[in-house]
Amino acid sequence: MFTGSSSFLVMFSSSILGMAAALALAGGPDPVLGTITSSLQHILQNTHGGNEYQYPTDITRDLLPIPVHSHNDYWRQEPFWTGLSKGCTSTEADIWLYNGTLYVGHDQSALTKERTLESLYINPILDVLGRQNPESPFVAGPTKNGVWDTTPDQTLYFFIDVKTSGPETFKAALQALKPLREKGYLSKVEGGKITYGPVTIIGTGETPLDMVTSVSDRDYFFDAPLANLNDPKYTNVDGTISPIASTDFAAAVGKVTADTDPVLTDTQLKALREQIATANERGIGARYWNTPAFPIRTRNLVWRTLLREGVTLLNADDLDAVASYF
Ligand SMILES: *[C@@H]1O[C@H](CO)[C@@H](O)[C@H](O)[C@H]1NC(C)=O
Repeated sequence: MFTGSSSFLVMFSSSILGMAAALALAGGPDPVLGTITSSLQHILQNTHGGNEYQYPTDITRDLLPIPVHSHNDYWRQEPFWTGLSKGCTSTEADIWLYNGTLYVGHDQSALTKERTLESLYINPILDVLGRQNPESPFVAGPTKNGVWDTTPDQTLYFFIDVKTSGPETFKAALQALKPLREKGYLSKVEGGKITYGPVTIIGTGETPLDMVTSVSDRDYFFDAPLANLNDPKYTNVDGTISPIASTDFAAAVGKVTADTDPVLTDTQLKALREQIATANERGIGARYWNTPAFPIRTRNLVWRTLLREGVTLLNADDLDAVASYF
């Protein structure tokens, strides 16, 4: 969709034109614009703000998706938006059910009346997807573009971490997802086959496994325990139930003591490879949480090792660091 010339024009209209307008107001010569010919400056000033230079689906302009899970996303200054702005393809919300409403926060003391699943996640996601799927005489029908304009077929994984009683809370979450469902934005499984949509819902925490396995056609999934996929309880779990399985890195692979490559011992690497292979054989992607945060060098070596070994998502707390790592 993007050619080199059109994205150049887009960048041009948003930054240089702004400067041109500022210069026109200030009235003085500008060291940068001084290098642009006066006839080109004239054109730029006249096109600034014109309808021809409004790009309809531009909310995620210049963002490249990265295979990163925004861990404890609801703790960030702007839940959902911060992760989106870094290109994270996965986010999460801890949800608590009180009097029929789902509140979002790490523990009870962090809950407020205003911070709900609807206000912090569902409405913002609907907002972005509405902008990315405008009604237009140029499209045959409703589109299902994802949140990233550069890669509209990239799904956004949304882990819903159930904190209060599993069956009631997960049921309430499924009801709360209705606006996304009605727009056809959710990934779903039908006849044993997954069709990815803009958003992939994965229940975790207290989500009951049987609320997912007992329904064959559905638009929600389960976060299976990556290191326990061979336990009898999970032997029938495949990618149509759990597109991503997760586990605690320190517990499942081990404590990292090296700070040079290879950062994992042979035993640790073997465990990691077995877990990822078991998952991948069933069409399940892998995510490890609780990877080392310090020293930075060790953190980065573990990230590199995980990507090289084929995890689907890195789990990150420091989004600036992980975004600059890619
Ligand atoms: C739930 O409802 C009860 C009864 O109306 C009320 O006392 C309580 O404060 C409510 N709890 C929350 C978290 O809103």
